[in-house]
Amino acid sequence: MKLAFVGGTGPEGLGLAMRFAKAGHEVAIGSRSKERGDEGAQKIAEAVPGAKASGGANADVVADADVVFLTFPYSGQQATLEALGPALDGKILCNVVAPLEFQQGVGAVALDVPGNSALQEAIAQLPKARVVSAFQNMSAEELQHLDRPIEADVLVCGRDAEAKQVVIGLANQIAGVRGIDAGGPSQSRYVEMMTSLLINLNRKHKTQSTIRIVGL
Ligand SMILES: NC(=O)c1ccc[n+]([C@@H]2O[C@H](COP(=O)([O-])OP(=O)(O)OC[C@H]3O[C@@H](n4cnc5c(N)ncnc54)[C@H](OP(=O)(O)O)[C@@H]3O)[C@@H](O)[C@H]2O)c1
Repeated sequence: MKLAFVGGTGPEGLGLAMRFAKAGHEVAIGSRSKERGDEGAQKIAEAVPGAKASGGANADVVADADVVFLTFPYSGQQATLEALGPALDGKILCNVVAPLEFQQGVGAVALDVPGNSALQEAIAQLPKARVVSAFQNMSAEELQHLDRPIEADVLVCGRDAEAKQVVIGLANQIAGVRGIDAGGPSQSRYVEMMTSLLINLNRKHKTQSTIRIVGL
């Protein structure tokens, strides 16, 4: 598949792109600046020998993508989706965004967002796209350690059953990872909020934590 990463120049987009390039997919790193997108693609090529990687402006990389990953901060979600607009119609989008902020003395704090979750806001904004959410609990640092598996579950939320299966299939291609259908869009809020807890656990215990659901 051809996978595009909007905001793919950050650690999370690069980490996911490296893992999927390693699994044999073609990856395209998007940015607000074409040059930074190209630099991102270069990082993938250096990290994954033989990777099929390209870079460019966000609008360019989504054009022929089979799946588009949204890997930018929540503060940029509304404007970025508005700018891309109809280019995303009919596409499978995987929203990785976890709305949070850092507060001094507290750490990461999950944000209460008007639409209940970043996923629900994206679905409301892009009714013709096939938006699901996933990977919000997966550390960029772990993703970029390509030599070791990640013992983790990826909870996939959304209303488009077929799109969820595509993203679950992609998650399962990362060594050690299990993709799980976690239900409809309203469930995404809990997954998104968990990211703040994980960041704070990482700081406290000086590690890279993630989640594994038992009993499934
Ligand atoms: N980092 C992690 O370990 C991690 C783990 C789980 C989930 N997440 C989630 O994944 C998303 C990406 O994380 P990240 O750490 O990679 O983020 P980041 O480094 O802060 O941002 C990623 C990229 O988004 C673009 N960007 C920044 N501000 C933007 C704005 N206002 N509008 C549009 N684009 C903007 C930038 O690319 P250009 O300047 O090149 O356009 C930046 O390189 C976040 O929503 C985060 O909550 C991160």
